[in-house]
Amino acid sequence: MPKTATLYPKTPMLPGIYWAGVVDWAVRIFHGYHTDEGSSYNSYFIDDECKTLIDSVKYPFADEWVARVSTMARLEDIKYIVVNHAEGDHTSALESKWRLFPNATFVTNKKCQEHLQLLYPDMVHAKWHIIDGKSELKIGVRTLTFVLTPLLHWPDSMFTYSAHDRTLFSMDGFGQHYASNRRWADECDVGHVMTLFNEYTANILGLFAAQMKLALAAASKLDIQNILTAHGVNWRGEALGRALEAYSRFSQNKHCENKVLVFFDSMYGATDRLAHAILEGVRNKGGTDCVLIDMKSSDITKVALHAFDASAVAIGSPTLNNGMMPSISAALTYIKGLALLKGKPVLAFGSYGWAERAVKDIAKVAEECKAVCVKEGGMSIKFQTNETSLKEAYEYGTLLAQKAEEHYKNQ
Ligand code: FEO
Repeated sequence: MPKTATLYPKTPMLPGIYWAGVVDWAVRIFHGYHTDEGSSYNSYFIDDECKTLIDSVKYPFADEWVARVSTMARLEDIKYIVVNHAEGDHTSALESKWRLFPNATFVTNKKCQEHLQLLYPDMVHAKWHIIDGKSELKIGVRTLTFVLTPLLHWPDSMFTYSAHDRTLFSMDGFGQHYASNRRWADECDVGHVMTLFNEYTANILGLFAAQMKLALAAASKLDIQNILTAHGVNWRGEALGRALEAYSRFSQNKHCENKVLVFFDSMYGATDRLAHAILEGVRNKGGTDCVLIDMKSSDITKVALHAFDASAVAIGSPTLNNGMMPSISAALTYIKGLALLKGKPVLAFGSYGWAERAVKDIAKVAEECKAVCVKEGGMSIKFQTNETSLKEAYEYGTLLAQKAEEHYKNQ
């Protein structure tokens, strides 16, 4: 990988604003998130009277980041480095590189400063400018302002806004895990970007609808024509409208589709056959979509993606070692943490040999998730499916589809 500045072409985003980030083409697991299409850690350089960087990158890319910045400015000429969020994917390059910017002042909120100094203790020696939601920072023709967005998704998270450019620097907000050579969503297949955007929202921000509502209310007072995010591609024009509309629906809990998610694991096929019977039962009703996920060929990230906008969910496992299969246990733990079952109709189903345990345990977790179980204790069968049990599963599929439609209409 080249590390010398001359090998990195400048990447203009807007007049006077350049991308200074890195693309992580190879990352496939991001703290448990299956990033099938890689990611990027976006940093931006603002070429104003006071030369300013927005955010940094993950530590394996620290040299590349410094080299990219060097194509645009002498490091000693960087006056401000704005840190919108302390998580390591946007800051860990600073641990080894911050002293390369001898004249830089780090601009962030109090909580973020606290987190950065705990993560990278040497940064207690850095120069700091602490801002809040009312602060203004004049950097030349531009004046930067800040929107504190606590718990979206860390307590330290914030947006930075440049009225001169009508541009919001949104850190994780509006992000997607997407490695691309393109920098704007409208240069890509926007439908595909929206799928990755929804996946990111489900997996990273799923728990924080209320905080998103507050952030959008604050951002609605700003004239925003461009959003420069810290992951993936960026938003302008019609694509920007789609992203804002998606966040608005999510923040109001109106993002569910008329759709059933069925996810399951199976050992000898009985739970698999029940899952497919449920799927056919959903199709029998008509008008309600259904997605089926076999955990042997998928992962928790896809479960979260579809649990996010499903209006009803069926969860299946045979009993294994007096409990549910580990893949189902992991997926349930994950979507419980993301609150993706709350208020939704749920069916637990599966098979057992001599200990009727897995389905009861799934139903119990669903109740802990504040889901609405359509059959108390779930639907269990002993050893093998037969015509009666498959018909029962089929009928539960049709019932789930009806419940999904009701949930969808009542959002
Ligand atoms: Fe992309 Fe919360 O860091």
